[in-house]
Amino acid sequence: MSSGKKDSGAFDVSLLPGAAFGRRVRLRHNGGDYAAAVAAAAEADPEALPRALYAGDGLLLLPGMHGIADEPALLARLSRLFGPEVEDYRQTLTARHMVHDSVPEIFIVSNLPPVGRQPPPRPEPPLTADGRLPTRFPHRRGWHTDQSYRRPPPDISLFFAVLPTQKGQGQTLFANGIGAYAALPDALKRRVDGLVGIHVKPRSGRSETAVRAGETPQPLRPHEQPQRQPVVRVHPVTGKRALYLCEAGQMDWVDGPFAGMQPGPDGDGARLLYEIMTHLTQPQFTYAHDWDQGDLVVWDNRSLAHAATWYAAAHKRLMWRTTVRGNPGGEYAGEKKSWIPVDEAAAT
Ligand SMILES: [Fe+2]
Repeated sequence: MSSGKKDSGAFDVSLLPGAAFGRRVRLRHNGGDYAAAVAAAAEADPEALPRALYAGDGLLLLPGMHGIADEPALLARLSRLFGPEVEDYRQTLTARHMVHDSVPEIFIVSNLPPVGRQPPPRPEPPLTADGRLPTRFPHRRGWHTDQSYRRPPPDISLFFAVLPTQKGQGQTLFANGIGAYAALPDALKRRVDGLVGIHVKPRSGRSETAVRAGETPQPLRPHEQPQRQPVVRVHPVTGKRALYLCEAGQMDWVDGPFAGMQPGPDGDGARLLYEIMTHLTQPQFTYAHDWDQGDLVVWDNRSLAHAATWYAAAHKRLMWRTTVRGNPGGEYAGEKKSWIPVDEAAAT
């Protein structure tokens, strides 16, 4: 396999350029509507895309999927190949203006109205000493896995570029928790095995910044409470162990970041989190995806962390995301969804 290419039925699967993990998938296809043909071929061989995803430790790029922009239901169809439940954002307390009109499985990430999500701040300094895009924590902030403040958390996210920003800005960074866990020094491995992180919804007044600023944490209803998650996840499909952790904005810095350790931003727990995140986000475990229009990227939240990068506010950005859940691993067996209000859960 010197070319890095592997035959997988209707698809060409190759190593992801510029990354030590991940796969790029292209359909062998002659003319017609490419994105629709990808969906049909993937449905005809439903293990092909998941197999490529897991072979790449949880990151998959499908370029050239422009047809999704005209037929958004294709994104929901492709999502269903990755797990039993694709989140319907109308059912999960999501503001309606962030949900696609005709395909409610699509969550809209955009700086355009009515969503108006602003880009993350630029790191300070904007580049590393050798002139590169910063990826490593704490120079780079914003590393997280999607919805880790829910139990069970989602398995997989799909992210489609309807309108990406210009190249060199608005990238999505990925960190491979499998490779990073395997490379941990034994002493640190022993410390993180069995460790429990406390995750919380962003903007709850419990972030590192909010606690340092002395903000009063917001009262949280029962279905909004911080959730405990293992720092090392055992993947339910591959059996591989992976670091599973967020940082400043999605951990609870009042009672955490770790259960059973000294809490707060200056405690022993914070020191350990900084050590783990600095390890996880080293260049050899990270990849920066510079988006082309029509790119579809699939990632496994059970084993990868990711972060968004800054872009100039003048650029228009429109991305569509779906989340797939239903196979979080034995740790979560039989659990009710933590984020569904009790009265609603009783009514269903
Ligand atoms: Fe995210």
